[in-house]
Amino acid sequence: MSPAELDPYVLERMRCEWDKRARENARHFIATANDEWNTEEFFNSGRLNLFFEILTDLGNVCQGKGPKDMKVLEIGCGAGRMTRAAAEVFGEVYAVDISGEMIAKAKEALADLGNVHLFQNSGADLQVLRGGGLQIDFAFSFIVFQHIPSREIIYSYAREVHRVLRPGGLFKFQVQGVPLTEGEADTWQGVHFTDQDAVEMAHASGFELRYRQGAGTQYFWLWFFKPEAMEASKDSA
Ligand SMILES: C[S@@+](CC[C@H](N)C(=O)[O-])C[C@H]1O[C@@H](n2cnc3c(N)ncnc32)[C@H](O)[C@@H]1O
Repeated sequence: MSPAELDPYVLERMRCEWDKRARENARHFIATANDEWNTEEFFNSGRLNLFFEILTDLGNVCQGKGPKDMKVLEIGCGAGRMTRAAAEVFGEVYAVDISGEMIAKAKEALADLGNVHLFQNSGADLQVLRGGGLQIDFAFSFIVFQHIPSREIIYSYAREVHRVLRPGGLFKFQVQGVPLTEGEADTWQGVHFTDQDAVEMAHASGFELRYRQGAGTQYFWLWFFKPEAMEASKDSA
């Protein structure tokens, strides 16, 4: 399924509802631990998440490259909470979000950083990164896919990251591992993934699912590695 075939109603609904949350209380809806975040605590919470989820895993993330030589992509950056932390470590950070209101807040908050590139995207693809043959060294997403009500959209992102990632590069992301107990998936409580679902998505999008952690919990983390060019060309021969 190509991004153009995705349900435009779902995309529009996601955009409108996240714009509304951004206007009401962006920082609270990004990290619900606090109703009123002060700026320092909000960005420190992003540094903590970056530390525990990314910086403790630099072997897989960097694979021998210097962090400052790397181009990193964040999907669903919100108001820039983890984007700021990532920009303090990596060379260039590209970040997308479906909500124009969130992106406006991120642009304002991160205006002091010259290595951050923020884009409002369609909510399902990375077309906004087109141009200049941009190749990403590492991609991540945290507490975003857990809010997406459509499995097709998450599949679309996996295929899109595969397209822009360098061969050998890692896409590390979190999905919801807990099934809904009541109601239908919406733009707050998204679809969930079982271990088998994760295996199937990796296969369908051309990734090697090398590790996973937290199946059956909210924080189900997946390590999708893009096969090296040689393996890819062997496959297509
Ligand atoms: C809970 S916030 C997390 C923000 C950021 N990842 C963080 O940890 O600070 C979820 C973000 O995902 C964005 N989002 C939701 N659905 C999206 C989609 N389909 N594509 C891109 N961004 C999306 C929302 O606009 C919101 O900014």
